[in-house]
Amino acid sequence: MAVRHFLTLTDLSAQELTQIIERAIELKKLRAQGITTDLFRGKVLGMIFEKSSTRTRVSFEAGMAQMGGSALFLSPRDTQLGRGEPIEDSARVISSMVDMVMIRTFGHQVLERFAEYSKVPVINALSDSYHPCQLLADIQTYVEHRGSPEGKVVAWVGDGNNMCHSYINAARLCNFELRIACPPGYEPDADILAAAADRVTVVHDPVAAVTGANWVATDVWASMGQETEQQIRLKAFENFLVDHELMSHANSNAVFMHCLPAHRGEEVSAELLEDSNLSVVWDEAENRLHAQKALMEFLQGHSH
Ligand code: CP
Ligand code: NVA
Repeated sequence: MAVRHFLTLTDLSAQELTQIIERAIELKKLRAQGITTDLFRGKVLGMIFEKSSTRTRVSFEAGMAQMGGSALFLSPRDTQLGRGEPIEDSARVISSMVDMVMIRTFGHQVLERFAEYSKVPVINALSDSYHPCQLLADIQTYVEHRGSPEGKVVAWVGDGNNMCHSYINAARLCNFELRIACPPGYEPDADILAAAADRVTVVHDPVAAVTGANWVATDVWASMGQETEQQIRLKAFENFLVDHELMSHANSNAVFMHCLPAHRGEEVSAELLEDSNLSVVWDEAENRLHAQKALMEFLQGHSH
């Protein structure tokens, strides 16, 4: 059986990504009209969470239910996953009983190993290296508010983290220019960057990155798993707050995004987050639901 997985955005072609975004926008409209689909009747999504989540869990679980299927929440605290059963064994067993699996974990290689042994599509619901589902929602949000991101300038202000890596991959697929502003020592992975060197630059000055940008995004300074670095990071990132002053350097039609959860007064000001003229974060969060429904339809349709 040929199975399609979604471990990074680059598992899709540019054309497939466009198709998923268009379907996500369509599914959102259908839901607003009260029209449901039941493509997943009798199907089960296994959801493995090794880190906390609000948006990802709710959007996958609600999305599956809305498409006629159901979802199973699997925590390492009360499954054998937390007691050291090998990934390869867990993958073979779990994927023999469910129709799709999403995994939120630490090391990206856990996802790769699981996918290698899985009989069904595996979705990356965040790893230390990437957060591709969030990018589906971010791209959908940009398209809905401003149209195609092709040829636009996107500024990433903050840590060179999993979200930043997925923005780099998005720059490749959507053909936009990405400027990353991070403190020295917090740059994204060199190999991920090198693959997009023709359209991604790293600077250490937020104003330089944001000047003329059409789309500005940030994220927390300490990601899940980096809690002990919180104090060091607060100091390193102190000049990286995204607020109205920084946004004043952007293009006049710029939008602001944040994958959430946000720390008001750290990476983003409370005023900017709540300014609906600039901030599209609530649409961005809601679009996780629609984009992942479109993704699950796509993966099911392309796995035989
Ligand atoms: N943005 C995001 O993935 O949120 P959760 O951690 O709440 O799932
Ligand atoms: N970079 C953050 C994203 C949370 C959705 C983290 O990994 O914790």
